[in-house]
Amino acid sequence: MKSNTVRFFDTTCRDGKQAPGNNHNPEDTVAVAFQAANMGISVFEAGFAASSEADFDSVSKVAKQVPGIIVCSLARAVESDISASARALECAITPPRLHTFIATSDVHLKYKLNMSHTEVVERAVWAVGRAKSYVDDVQFSAEDATRSNPDYLALVVKEVIRAGARTINLPDTVGYAMPDEVASMVRHIIETVPEVREYGVTIAVHCHNDLGFATANTLAGIKAGARQVECTVNGIGERAGNTHYAEVVMALSTRPDYFGVTHDIDTRKIGEMATLLSQIIGKPIPDTLPIVGEHVFAHGAGIHQHGVLAHPTVYEIMSPESVGWKAERFPLSSQSGRHGLQKRLQILGYQVFGAMLDKAYINFLVIAQKKVMVTDDDLHHLYQGLKVCS
Ligand code: KIV
Ligand code: ZN
Repeated sequence: MKSNTVRFFDTTCRDGKQAPGNNHNPEDTVAVAFQAANMGISVFEAGFAASSEADFDSVSKVAKQVPGIIVCSLARAVESDISASARALECAITPPRLHTFIATSDVHLKYKLNMSHTEVVERAVWAVGRAKSYVDDVQFSAEDATRSNPDYLALVVKEVIRAGARTINLPDTVGYAMPDEVASMVRHIIETVPEVREYGVTIAVHCHNDLGFATANTLAGIKAGARQVECTVNGIGERAGNTHYAEVVMALSTRPDYFGVTHDIDTRKIGEMATLLSQIIGKPIPDTLPIVGEHVFAHGAGIHQHGVLAHPTVYEIMSPESVGWKAERFPLSSQSGRHGLQKRLQILGYQVFGAMLDKAYINFLVIAQKKVMVTDDDLHHLYQGLKVCS
C-alpha cells in the first residue's frame, strides 16, 4: 500500500556543503542535525565520508550523538567509499543508512565513467550488495536519472532492488527536467518495476534548481508517488542549489486539498533552522526567499496593510507564526497608509485616533520621505512630538 506520508531527507551538510563557501565543520553539522531531528526530518545526510577527514568526522559525530534521525553517508560505487562510509557509521545510535550511487545517463557513461550499460548495472548491483554487507538500510541513487533512458533506468532500479536497496532515488542532477517529465519518470518506475511494490521500496526525488524548477519538480514527483524528498535548508547546494525543503513542506501544508499527503515536519521550527544555517555559513537569508525571507510576510503597501489588518487571509496564504517567523510584519515606508501606522503605534503602546492620527501621518510621511524604513525609534520620537504639540 502506498504510504500517505512524505519523508524529508536533508542533504544540507553534503550536497549543500558542495557549493562554494559553505564550509561548515563537523560541530556545525551536528548542530544542524540536532535541529533537523527536532523538527521531524527523517534522514540526515551528514556527509560524504570518503571525501575528506572533515566529512568523515561529521558523519561519525552525528551518528554517535544525534538521536531520533537516520544518519546517512554518501558513497560512490567503489570499495574505498563504501567502506569509509561504513566505518563512519559504525557506532551509530540509530540504525544508519548507506547511500551509494552511480550515473545512468548516456552522457555520464560515455564522458565520465567510460563504462558500458552492462558494466554500470553490474557495478550498481555490486555496490548495493557491498553496502548491504555493512548496514541493513541501503539507498541507491541513479545519478542523472532524468537524462537517462527510461527503460535502462527501470532495469537498473529492478536489479538494485533485487540486490537489497530499499530506497531508490531518482535525481534531476543538473536541474534539466520539467515537472511533468519528473512525474512521468516516477510513474514509469513504479508501474514497470514490480519489485518496487513487492519489496515496499520508497521512491525518492532529488532536484537541482538550475532552471528554477527544483521545488515544482519535487512536488510533481510527490504527486506521482515519490515518498522521500531530498532537500536542503534555504535551498543551498551545487550550482543553483537544491530544493528548499521549507517550500515543499509549506506547499504540502497549505494545499492538502491538492496533494493529499502528510508530513512529519514541525513547521514552527522552520524560521529557527533558516537562521541557524545562515549563521553557520555566514550568508544572509535572501529577503524574498519563499517561507523564510525577511520580506515574505511583510506587507508594505497601504492597501495591503489595511487588508491584512482587516483579515490576514486577504493577503496571506499561511500565517507567519506557522513557520516561526519573527521579523516585522508591517514595515513602514512612504508606501504605508494610516492603518499600518496606527497598528505599529498601537504595538508600541500608543493609541492614536482621529485628528491626532492625521497629524501623526503627516509627520510620518516627512520622516518616510527621508528614510527607506521608518523604525520603532522614529515612531517613539514621532509620538513624543505629537504630545508636545497637542
Ligand atoms: O545530484 C545528484 O545526483 C546527487 C546524487 C549523488 C544523489 O547529489
Ligand atoms: Zn545533488
